[in-house]
Amino acid sequence: MKTLVIGAGNMGLTYAEGMAQSAMLNRRNLMVFDKSADVVMRLKDLNHFDVYEHLEECLPQADMVFIAVKPYHCDELFKEMKSMVNKDQIFVSLMAGVTINKIQEGLGAKKVVRSMPNLPAQVGKGVTSYTASKEVSRVELLMVRNLLDTTGESIHVENENFIDASTGISGSGPAYVFYFMNSMLEAARKMGFSKNDSKVLVSQTFEGAVTLFNENDLSPDTWMERVASKGGTTRAALDSMDDNNVKELIKEAAYAAFDRAVELGEEK
Ligand SMILES: NC(=O)c1ccc[n+]([C@@H]2O[C@H](COP(=O)([O-])OP(=O)(O)OC[C@H]3O[C@@H](n4cnc5c(N)ncnc54)[C@H](OP(=O)(O)O)[C@@H]3O)[C@@H](O)[C@H]2O)c1
Repeated sequence: MKTLVIGAGNMGLTYAEGMAQSAMLNRRNLMVFDKSADVVMRLKDLNHFDVYEHLEECLPQADMVFIAVKPYHCDELFKEMKSMVNKDQIFVSLMAGVTINKIQEGLGAKKVVRSMPNLPAQVGKGVTSYTASKEVSRVELLMVRNLLDTTGESIHVENENFIDASTGISGSGPAYVFYFMNSMLEAARKMGFSKNDSKVLVSQTFEGAVTLFNENDLSPDTWMERVASKGGTTRAALDSMDDNNVKELIKEAAYAAFDRAVELGEEK
């Protein structure tokens, strides 16, 4: 399965590197295309995959094509690609808000997978949700999944509404975690800890809590019960959050991202 990644920016390169380092594709089966001559030169020096400056040299040989340009570049890219597309090729879009229908029409293609990755893909800890047009077979979808999983984990969702919904949870989610971390870092600094000690206190707390959560079958509520004893310090903090309605505000924020993802899809 010869695979091409179009757009060697943050996401495109993350996926290309993930695939290059996996046993899924050998080096000869992975191609990367970017329109910037500087990017192409830098990647050729790296020598991790075959790098192309001209679409006509790589697109016709590809069985699977990952599209990782910014959504506002897709119209121009689709125009350039359309005459070279064939009906057996599978297109996997990483672009936020660009619908399967738009990709099919833009490329004159049938087999399209739309996905929503997230930033921790850069360290192999991403989560990608994906859904496909009905023309993509089960076997093809499994191949796509295996490639997506080279950057972390993936979940198959029923339809594009869930892609927008997962934007509100996992796509934008890393920023919510950073927001929470930032608040705790600011509190630690205010209490007098050095920058470095604040970072250790906060990052180990997040990492430790996530590891506990992942390694056991307990809900966050149960973990909270275990940390918070009646009249104790953690209870005081959790009561303060409840009094300020923090839980509802976080849910509202996730819905704001979901709604915005739907809106962006409608604008395009
Ligand atoms: N970054 C994230 O956390 C994240 C999360 C979820 C989804 N996504 C999606 O991933 C996609 C890529 O985002 P990104 O952050 O990786 O963007 P990026 O860093 O800007 O990378 C896009 C790359 O594609 C190149 N490009 C633009 N038009 C092209 C064309 N016609 N042919 C070939 N290459 C072209 C760009 O070159 P120039 O810089 O010269 O334009 C750039 O090198 C977006 O659609 C975004 O919605 C990203």
